[in-house]
Amino acid sequence: MEETMKSLLDDSFESAMTLTNSGVPQVPDRYVLPPSQRPALGSSLGTIETTLPIIDLSLLHEHLLRSSVIRDINMACKEFGLFQVINHGIPPSVIEGALDAATQFFDLPVEEKMLLVSADVHQPVRYGTSLNHSTDRVHYWRDFIKHYSYPLSKWIDMWPSNPPCYKEKVGKYAEATHVLHKQLREAISESLGLEKNYLQEQTEEGSQVMAVNCYPACPEPEITLGMPPHSDFGSLTILLQSSQGLQIMDSNKDWIRVPYIEGALIVQLGDQVEVMSNGIYKSVIHRVTVNKDYKRLSFASLHSLPLHKKISPAPELVGNNAPAYGEFSFNDFLYYISNNDCVQQRFIDTLKKSNS
Ligand code: OGA
Ligand code: NI
Repeated sequence: MEETMKSLLDDSFESAMTLTNSGVPQVPDRYVLPPSQRPALGSSLGTIETTLPIIDLSLLHEHLLRSSVIRDINMACKEFGLFQVINHGIPPSVIEGALDAATQFFDLPVEEKMLLVSADVHQPVRYGTSLNHSTDRVHYWRDFIKHYSYPLSKWIDMWPSNPPCYKEKVGKYAEATHVLHKQLREAISESLGLEKNYLQEQTEEGSQVMAVNCYPACPEPEITLGMPPHSDFGSLTILLQSSQGLQIMDSNKDWIRVPYIEGALIVQLGDQVEVMSNGIYKSVIHRVTVNKDYKRLSFASLHSLPLHKKISPAPELVGNNAPAYGEFSFNDFLYYISNNDCVQQRFIDTLKKSNS
């Protein structure tokens, strides 16, 4: 009985959506970031406009153009660890369907969403707020639902039953992103000079975690964030955003806004690619800003190796040097984030060898 009470208490929270809907004029103290971590919105200081690469994926299928697209991908990965893709093959109706289902989900009454709440990062389906409401020292203006998504038939029954269209619409989007990620995984392997199937062989059946994020309008966007600076653990993330809000850190540690391009998707390299490439590519550090006027939604589809499979630097890329990183699995990452403050130290830094 005591156990049940405790877990009930741990799992109760006030979501960002609830705060926005109640019309709070200020963010509660727990959301206020130390001045050095605030996003400096509206000032040109610290945030710069740079043209980020846009890759037309349909050209990958053009025999004569493929190698130049692969070169562009190589440059984008080296310089930013991120690029946007257009003509990616996911129909607009599938994208709109997913955004519509997410809008309806986050608009549900609190009690309904709470059916799926969990602070346990190992749960295959969980609703939550911030990063982890039960352990975060500073909170972030985000509600989310995360669910395992591949193989779809294994997980979809556990997804939200409300709104009734959720499983079908988000399921279609999850399948389409899984197909897209295979093309990207080949192109990224090729861009490193590896066999096209290199990442595929590493990822085997792989895992896909879909993080559906909701950032409601926020009364004080200057002093809070939707997500703190972090990199994603997987090999790559395909991100769909309903409006601008994502920022990435460049090599000078300046924050760059990632523009909203209608119909485009954002591809981000994760820690598994940094390790696999022995640091030739870096996972991209990113954060999310919020705004006063409207709600922003995003779908981050994280593609990764299977839970227990370790990734290590590709011998072809290490050559005669010592590998610059130790190996790790998705499960190792989950263990790390449930026992450490990942805002203080990035997981990937714990894998770096001192000789690098
Ligand atoms: C994430 C993430 C970015 C966004 O879910 O890991 O970085 O724009 N999301 O929501
Ligand atoms: Ni992320």
